[in-house]
Amino acid sequence: MSELLKIEGLSAGYGEAVVLQGVSLSLAEGETLALLGRNGTGKTTLINTLAGATRQHAGTVALGGVALHRLPAHERAAAGIGWVPQERNIFKSLTVHENLTAVARPGRKGATAAPWTPDKVYAMFPRLAERKTNLGTQLSGGEQQMLAVGRALVLNPRLLLLDEPLEGLAPIIVEELLRAIRRITREEGLSAIIVEQHPQAILAISDQAAVLDRGTVVHTGTAASLSAQPELLDRLLGVAR
Ligand SMILES: Nc1ncnc2c1ncn2[C@@H]1O[C@H](COP(=O)(O)OP(=O)(O)OP(=O)(O)O)[C@@H](O)[C@H]1O
Ligand SMILES: [Mg+2]
Repeated sequence: MSELLKIEGLSAGYGEAVVLQGVSLSLAEGETLALLGRNGTGKTTLINTLAGATRQHAGTVALGGVALHRLPAHERAAAGIGWVPQERNIFKSLTVHENLTAVARPGRKGATAAPWTPDKVYAMFPRLAERKTNLGTQLSGGEQQMLAVGRALVLNPRLLLLDEPLEGLAPIIVEELLRAIRRITREEGLSAIIVEQHPQAILAISDQAAVLDRGTVVHTGTAASLSAQPELLDRLLGVAR
């Protein structure tokens, strides 16, 4: 399998503060990485660094062989990054449909799956189809999260970054989103990094796993092997689950 993402010796933070230190990770094309760790260990900072929203002090990030770390944030979507931030960035004053059409980009050359269009997003999330003309302000938390995912998909990214996509959502919505994420990664074959604090549901749909602690990578391996070692998970994440 060819390598899609390669992070080497990455140090990054905010202003003078260094949060991530010496982070190295790689991900093969078509694979999903579960990015785990306790509160405040740097998961969001790593995602934000891939999106170009932090200050990078050292290291390299390559996506499909392109040096991502040299690109300003606004060029990273074109380079293949589809970012769903922890705070769900939708345009609240636009309708669902306008949110999707405002950012849509054509599919990538050589992509095997059909490109993501607003209609393909509606097929994935029927709730959004029913609320096409509703404003962002009129959506529930779960619907806002579905729209945030849809907005990243219509960019036709090479790598989808999901920062705690299940946080604060009702169990029935969590199930719906997990099914959609599984379809996106498994059936559509899109590569993804999924940040979660509650790991089992995400490990079950991921290929690889990485755990951060105080800004450094303290574990990497397959999702299946981490999932099968509850005592290791407890030690790494510090809470019984
Ligand atoms: N904008 C910022 N400016 C300065 N420091 C920040 C900023 N955002 C986060 N930090 C600090 O960086 C560290 C890592 O935070 P980060 O948000 O990456 O953690 P996280 O693993 O995503 O946590 P959580 O699970 O709570 O989302 C923390 O010590 C935090 O206080
Ligand atoms: Mg976070």
